Amino acid sequence: MSEIILGAAIFGAGWVAGEHAKAYQKCKRTRLVAVGSRKLESARACAEKVGASDALITTDFEEILQHPGVDVISICTPPDLHADLAIRAAKAGKHLCIEKPLALDWDSCLAMQSAVRESGVKSVVSFVLHWNPSLVTTKNLVERGAIGTPSYIEVDYWHGQQKWYPQYAWGLTKAQGGSSLLSAGCHAVDALRWFAGNDNAVVEVSAMQAPHRGDNPDWEFPPTTVLICKVASILDCVMPYQFNVDIIGTKGTLRDNQVWSPELFPGQTDWATIPTVLPNSGDVTHHPFDGQIQALAAAILDGASCLPDLDDAIKTHELIFAADQSAATGQPVKLPLET
Ligand SMILES: NC(=O)c1ccc[n+]([C@@H]2O[C@H](COP(=O)([O-])OP(=O)(O)OC[C@H]3O[C@@H](n4cnc5c(N)ncnc54)[C@H](OP(=O)(O)O)[C@@H]3O)[C@@H](O)[C@H]2O)c1
Repeated sequence: MSEIILGAAIFGAGWVAGEHAKAYQKCKRTRLVAVGSRKLESARACAEKVGASDALITTDFEEILQHPGVDVISICTPPDLHADLAIRAAKAGKHLCIEKPLALDWDSCLAMQSAVRESGVKSVVSFVLHWNPSLVTTKNLVERGAIGTPSYIEVDYWHGQQKWYPQYAWGLTKAQGGSSLLSAGCHAVDALRWFAGNDNAVVEVSAMQAPHRGDNPDWEFPPTTVLICKVASILDCVMPYQFNVDIIGTKGTLRDNQVWSPELFPGQTDWATIPTVLPNSGDVTHHPFDGQIQALAAAILDGASCLPDLDDAIKTHELIFAADQSAATGQPVKLPLET
């Protein structure tokens, strides 16, 4: 293992940035050397909170790109800014950790992909549940044949977003949140693809939307989208956060951290429950950013594989744009999407 320490920068010093900052400082192979944001005081507070008092503090993204000590940049602004920032960072030769969603339109995603491919920088897209213990367990059980071949997979993102939620001010708008799937349900689409095997090609997508039926005028897009595969992304539900995983296989079934596998457990009379950390929290302090940053550092320094990278996340976004198009038109949408 290389002892080189990577210099890390964060741009967009809000809620999730705090977790990126902690993860860069905790990882033995990275140090936070720069933080940028719209407001200087947000950038300074983010750096100081994790003891990075020597870090460059700036409102100018260009200054971060010019900083010779910056090897990798986390893009943590609202989504409408991700594409431009990520493309400029890739062109400057900086490795990338890009918050989800990648962008709010398909052409921007493709432009990001071209820039990252041309520059050869490493990337990870912050579908951070790839490091959640319960989801890693599910993936392991599927891969080791505990339930045979999956024939039906459901993953749901049910998260009633209230005014306390840091993204509330922009996340419910079309211009910056985009849609139910882009804003948040993308985690469920990503998990579904991951469990199905990321190379499984989807040929057609159908989806439906349900308008907000409450009295909250802040929802600019229908907060419920059901993607027939199936993913249900519901952002105005009245209940605690729930990330459902159901996988029905030819020899057994997985429901969250419960296993039904007569081959693995002969004589099983009830669901076997695995004690683990479930993904059921919308609080970023619960999310496993440490694993994501360690995996990105290993990709940069050791050439290790790190998924979901930009190429993988693009496939998730292609499904999302197709689903949003299908829900808007009432028609199935064929893949690959046209540019
Ligand atoms: N992977 C996950 O599980 C996860 C969880 C939460 C959020 N996210 C994603 O992370 C991103 C940020 O979400 P958040 O919850 O952290 O939102 P947030 O708390 O609103 O933070 C975003 C920050 O971006 C800064 N910003 C806004 N406009 C800017 C601009 N034009 N130039 C520079 N900085 C700007 C703001 O900083 P100032 O204070 O300087 O104005 C704001 O504090 C979103 O893409 C979101 O979807 C991902």
